[in-house]
Amino acid sequence: MSEVRTGLGWDVHRLAPGRALILGGVTVPSDLGLEGHSDADVLAHAITDAILGAAALGDIGMHFPDSDPRWKDSDSLVFLRQACQLAGAAGFRLVNVDSTVILERPKLKDFRLPVRQSLAATLALDVDCVSVKFKTAEGVGPVGEGRSAEAQAIVTLVREQPAVTRQAERRL
Ligand code: C5P
Ligand code: MG
Repeated sequence: MSEVRTGLGWDVHRLAPGRALILGGVTVPSDLGLEGHSDADVLAHAITDAILGAAALGDIGMHFPDSDPRWKDSDSLVFLRQACQLAGAAGFRLVNVDSTVILERPKLKDFRLPVRQSLAATLALDVDCVSVKFKTAEGVGPVGEGRSAEAQAIVTLVREQPAVTRQAERRL
């Protein structure tokens, strides 16, 4: 049986005026956007961490530190693509992504398909294998008060090559 791995990711960014609201690489019209060193794409960051987590390859800050000027205002799809490549180099193939963005406003449901398409293209997945859900925080806490947005993600990876074969190869 092939080895199956699950990875979990979570992220939060503050909302601020004068910033773009970018989710999964898609710019959503909004008075407030996400603040951060990169483009602060909270959804891309959560999925990046989920992929790195499933492959036990550390976390986003380890690979793309926010102290590095290279990542200032960076397109976060770069992190996502690279996490997928790192997992691939470790012998894993991404199977599916499920995710939730928690944001009080604006309404995001009309952006579901473009966000799924953007993520699927970045991750070389079929759009049917990429799920994006939206929730409010019902007015409660920093997300509910419109001060921040959060994202959660879970991914499945499968090992392309069984671990036992790789061990046998190492002995040759
Ligand atoms: O948080 P709540 O359960 O009230 O969300 C109801 C629905 O509103 C969600 O299932 C989602 O489809 C949509 N929604 C949205 N944009 C948000 C939050 C929720 O489109 N920012
Ligand atoms: Mg982040």
